[in-house]
Amino acid sequence: MAGRVTTRTFLDMKARGQRITMLTAYDYPTARLCDLAGVDALLIGDSLGMVVQGHDTTLGVTLEEAVYHTRMVARATEHALVIADMPFLTFQLGVDQAVANAGRLLAAGGAQAVKLEGGQDMQETVRRMCRVGIPVLGHIGLTPQSVHALGGWRVQGRTAEAARRLLDDALALEDAGAFGVVLELVPVEVAEAISRRLRIPTIGIGSGPGCDGQVLVLHDLVGLGEGPGPRHARRYADVGTAIREAAAAYCRDVRQGDYPGAEHATSLGADASAVVAALGDGRPARDPHPPGGDPEHRLYGGKP
Ligand code: KIV
Repeated sequence: MAGRVTTRTFLDMKARGQRITMLTAYDYPTARLCDLAGVDALLIGDSLGMVVQGHDTTLGVTLEEAVYHTRMVARATEHALVIADMPFLTFQLGVDQAVANAGRLLAAGGAQAVKLEGGQDMQETVRRMCRVGIPVLGHIGLTPQSVHALGGWRVQGRTAEAARRLLDDALALEDAGAFGVVLELVPVEVAEAISRRLRIPTIGIGSGPGCDGQVLVLHDLVGLGEGPGPRHARRYADVGTAIREAAAAYCRDVRQGDYPGAEHATSLGADASAVVAALGDGRPARDPHPPGGDPEHRLYGGKP
């Protein structure tokens, strides 16, 4: 792998017909593994709110949390382009504030680009960011920050009118200087047609093979979550089962006295008896667990 992927590489890859790979990452170890695997771009998605923080939507993620996770991912990568997602209401309230918040993701987080949701409505914001040197990846189709307005997690652009609006959104982002655009849950035919119309690459999620690249949430890819995962994801590993089985085996071993073994700690060997003798007769000076509990230590409501 030669050098760092840049936004320029994205454009070159599209021109060469080379498919772009992108995954989400939220922490150092997984970002490191994905980077070593050769993924072209890592997105600190606000999906963080759902797959890491356990919320039902992405709406609760803050700018400071995005900066915090972006730092870990940026520190882990040598190859992948690091793209930080702009959380809900960090870019919708005014262009100046949006530019300042995006700048923070680059300057304090170490990202090399930001992603934001929206199309024509975000054109001016994207233009200003690009003008001050902040590369922007757009995101249209199912935009999770608008999940309540959209009435749920549903495919977008099913009608001729809605599909035309998506194309206009994509063209507006390209015109504003975005280096790519995510198409989420867009019908295969619409995604393919939009991809053909743009100079910049489209990165699809649940939008079929006609996009110029693909992005998936890492947790869906490796099976780190409860349930079967979304329809659009292919599961390449079952890390969730591996972790659960490892934790259960650890509990069993500790309870049975099979862990730790001799190899997991240091023994004094021949010096042991002299050292232990210096500790006294082995009886505790005071029973730390007197029968009936410690009268000084009570739980809520005064229960011993
Ligand atoms: O937040 C996220 O992870 C995303 C991708 C799924 C595109 O926006």
